[in-house]
Amino acid sequence: MKIIGHRGARGLAPENTLISFKKGLESNADYIEFDIQLTKDNKVAVIHDYSLQRTTGINGLVSEFTLAEIKKADAGAWFSEEFRGQQLPSLEEALDFIIPKAIPVIEIKMSYFYNPDFKKYLTPILEEYSKKSHLIVISFFHPILKELKNDLKNIETAVLYNSALTAPWQVAESVKADAVHPRADSINMDIINELKKRGYPIRPWVINTEKEFKIFLDAGVDALGTDFPNILNEFLSQNNVSK
Ligand code: G3P
Ligand code: CA
Repeated sequence: MKIIGHRGARGLAPENTLISFKKGLESNADYIEFDIQLTKDNKVAVIHDYSLQRTTGINGLVSEFTLAEIKKADAGAWFSEEFRGQQLPSLEEALDFIIPKAIPVIEIKMSYFYNPDFKKYLTPILEEYSKKSHLIVISFFHPILKELKNDLKNIETAVLYNSALTAPWQVAESVKADAVHPRADSINMDIINELKKRGYPIRPWVINTEKEFKIFLDAGVDALGTDFPNILNEFLSQNNVSK
């Protein structure tokens, strides 16, 4: 079972920053997950919320600022004084940092209304980096996965979902996705078994306790998304689980 560092290592460092990715890599994460959005000047920034407020203190939306303006913001102090001065990276900076040590899991955050420019500016970056590394692209906004899969045959896509779908494989099939990333409380053994039978890797999120690690290890899922990749890594070695 493999480790996905959620927003890097969200429990250990300010999410979606290079220091968070570093903590994930130091915890033996096989995958580093992070979130991306399009900026005002059509660059791709790594940040989770549509608003800059929570992680930088700036009042405004990501789409209202240029990448250079966003990079000037302090994205570390909100988490702890130790991390003051951390910046939010661009997509390219995140990929350069993570590859080849881990596989990037890139979550496309679509703002309240679909911005077709996002795909236009994202595709060349994914195309370039897919020549250097396996890339997994995920989103709650499934139509973008279908469009990207049509354009970029060698990326992996996975449907991200957070409610208990009765047949997630149908959603995956409908957008030609390769894998499913369900919220942990939206699956059961019947669904897991059916997904496995159909050949879909299953990577639930976000799981942070040993009790839950054990449940999903026993359930036979392929990877777990966690805020504490260090604890999951320790759990897997203590239980002699091969990755
Ligand atoms: O990897 C899945 C997970 O990141 C989705 O939820 O809100 O943390 O982006 P969120
Ligand atoms: Ca995410």
